[in-house]
Amino acid sequence: MTNDILKVLITKEELEQKVKELGRQISRDYTGKNLLMVSVLKGSVVFMADLMRAVTIPCEIDFMSVASYGSGVKTSGVVKIIKDLDIDLKNRDLLLVEDILDSGMTLNYIKNMLEQRGTRSIRICTLLDKPERRQVDIKADYSGFSVPDEFVVGYGLDFAEKYRNLPYVGVLKPSVYS
Ligand code: IMP
Ligand code: MG
Repeated sequence: MTNDILKVLITKEELEQKVKELGRQISRDYTGKNLLMVSVLKGSVVFMADLMRAVTIPCEIDFMSVASYGSGVKTSGVVKIIKDLDIDLKNRDLLLVEDILDSGMTLNYIKNMLEQRGTRSIRICTLLDKPERRQVDIKADYSGFSVPDEFVVGYGLDFAEKYRNLPYVGVLKPSVYS
């Protein structure tokens, strides 16, 4: 598996450090609020698991699963809900936890949809951000790392469902694609 990685972009130690920082910031900002952390499956699972343990205030978690129509690595912005949230969103302060903000189309769709359900606030926390790729006007309120426009895997992020279990974020060798 490691043979397929061209280079390590973000080490395990850098990830740990950043997650701690984000957890501190979120804990401070959400003190006295009604924090519900929402993970969009499956890419954000690893980040979510670490981030929630870096949060030191009471919080709840929930998961949703969506599929975006479109082929391969491109998303179309039309999203199908595979698994919806279980928790009632009324008066909740939602924090959408994502692995990577790319075109932004998926998260934009989800955010608009959840806003209709009586939430008090919705913010976005993404581990990685590819700002150059943005196609809709959406910004992360909390962002771990800006990454260049390269396909990255590891720490939850996949290529064809593989490499999610790598403890670091890396760039795949082009030979893996072809
Ligand atoms: P978008 O922001 O709607 O374009 O889509 C974001 C989703 O695309 C992420 O949640 C990932 O699942 C996937 N994605 C985008 N870029 C990458 C990447 O470099 N590696 C792995 N998955 C990616
Ligand atoms: Mg994802």
